[in-house]
Amino acid sequence: MCGIVGILGRGPVASGLLEALKRLEYRGYDSAGIATLEGGKLTRRRAEGKLKNLEALLAKEPLLGPIGIGHTRWATHGRPTENNAHPHATDKVAVVHNGIIENFRELREELRAKGHKFVTETDTEVIAHLITDAMQNGMKPVEAVAESLPRLKGAFALALLFNGEEDLLIGARQGAPLAVGYGDGEIYLGSDALALAPFTDTLTYLEDGDFVVLTRHSAEFRDARGLPVERRKIKTLASAFMVDKGNYRHFMAKEIHEQPEVVARTLAHYLDMSAGRVALPFDLPVDAKKLQRLTIAGCGTAYFAALTAKYWFERFARLAVDVEIGSEFRYRDVPLEEGGLTIVVSQSGETADTLASLRMAKACGQKTIAVCNVATSTMAREADVAAATLAGPEIGVASTKAFTCQLAVLAALALAFGRARGTLDEVNEARLVSELMALPGFMAEVLKHEMLVEKLAHDLSKVRDILYLGRGTSYPLALEGALKLKELSYVHAEGYAAGELKHGPIALIDEDMPVIILAPTDAVLDKTISNMQEVAARGGRLILICDPRQAQDFARDAEAVIVMPLMPPDFAALVYAIPVQLIAYHTAVLLGKDADQPRNLAKSVTVE
Ligand code: F6R
Repeated sequence: MCGIVGILGRGPVASGLLEALKRLEYRGYDSAGIATLEGGKLTRRRAEGKLKNLEALLAKEPLLGPIGIGHTRWATHGRPTENNAHPHATDKVAVVHNGIIENFRELREELRAKGHKFVTETDTEVIAHLITDAMQNGMKPVEAVAESLPRLKGAFALALLFNGEEDLLIGARQGAPLAVGYGDGEIYLGSDALALAPFTDTLTYLEDGDFVVLTRHSAEFRDARGLPVERRKIKTLASAFMVDKGNYRHFMAKEIHEQPEVVARTLAHYLDMSAGRVALPFDLPVDAKKLQRLTIAGCGTAYFAALTAKYWFERFARLAVDVEIGSEFRYRDVPLEEGGLTIVVSQSGETADTLASLRMAKACGQKTIAVCNVATSTMAREADVAAATLAGPEIGVASTKAFTCQLAVLAALALAFGRARGTLDEVNEARLVSELMALPGFMAEVLKHEMLVEKLAHDLSKVRDILYLGRGTSYPLALEGALKLKELSYVHAEGYAAGELKHGPIALIDEDMPVIILAPTDAVLDKTISNMQEVAARGGRLILICDPRQAQDFARDAEAVIVMPLMPPDFAALVYAIPVQLIAYHTAVLLGKDADQPRNLAKSVTVE
């Protein structure tokens, strides 16, 4: 989603704004711009496409002001043109905005009737005009903002720069994240800690409904009612993480390869490895024994992690689980039991639909756990319990290491519930904990055979459609495989529960259709093999991901086999995720696609 940055500096701020915007690139964007005050006068530069276009423009036509705002735009209202790029400005104020103003049409009509002229297709422009209108009525900037904010409906974050005001920036937050950073005689605004990491590690996150008035030496927070309010300063670790690609061509490749390490780190946080026990770093927020039903919600890849966890909670904790897509769940009239439990899963901790699901569950009187990768995110802060995934910053837009870390946390939670409910005995707990502990080693082993996947990707890059099939926990992984492939390589792919094949998708099978079958040796392997044979019988191109035993037996029927280590089936999904991710990555790279920033996608989806 859009990225916001603002700097009240001691010298020219354009290069700092650009640097911060680069750190926000991972969120996905299609145009960018900055504005500064030069001699007190608002001046803007904006460009379509990637930041290098804006950088080139600034090299030709520099901006030298000591105060400014910047933006990477992910288009919602209006095409990704230079004219629609932020900042949007009048002769009084410039604004950058993340989110959606739902009532912009009514506001635009109202302001048009008063003589305001609109020159873009965006919803953002109404914010500039609304504030300008208040200022034309004699209000000072702070008053005008306080007057205008309550009129804006939707989820958004804003940064505002005023003509002639060389020591003033205003930020506002309603539903989309925004943080203030503190420097030495400088002050910053940013969508997240990563954007501000080059400047400071001391931050304050705005709460929902807050706005903040900044000068170089002060930050005054006001709450939704416009009343002064104290907000806590925190230290962030974001600056400690090197946000570079290391020796890899893409962040995504680096992040795939980091998985053994970050999954191990995450598991270590939830397990007592020497005792062979689960040891959560927090108390469960409910009485696990009395719990009747668990809800797990998420979007995209996080939803597939939730779907995988359902198998574990049912099996180890004998707990009924509803898995919900955030965007559906939040608008259904779900009878959630008071005192029950909802777990939300999100890398960013800001996804609008997942956040709304969390708030809905809380409003129904449920306890909540947020499995999040960004420890300072809104979900992590609002849930009763924040269960951290310790994947480190995930920069590639497609989720990889966050996904496997989500699985690691959810697996540990399932075991903890099993113990607490008395459905998992000590012996089985120890067995399963040692299975979890072995996963990073298996992951590292699989990564050594990346070349084989690259070879397979050569063939896959020539096809139009691909099917992924799996049963048990390989079913959500089949869905994940198809999602990864289509979002990165733009090759059409579908994932199915292997048993569903004959209920429709089998009609698609012909000699041009590659079918990737995820077949770890588990309780349903025989059934998966039957489904595989149904594909072979119809001339489909079989690609098997399985362990050496199956590889030996079925290599003849398959066009390609990716051989996985022999391992217990319970948590094999974390290891089988690796070839699934690598297939998507290499196919995308071979097709010349941008694996880190696929078209139209955003890392943090803060709009509905
Ligand atoms: C796919 C992907 C997305 C995200 C989804 C939720 O590779 O990354 O499907 O999983 O947008 O994002 P978070 O986890 O931040 O809530």
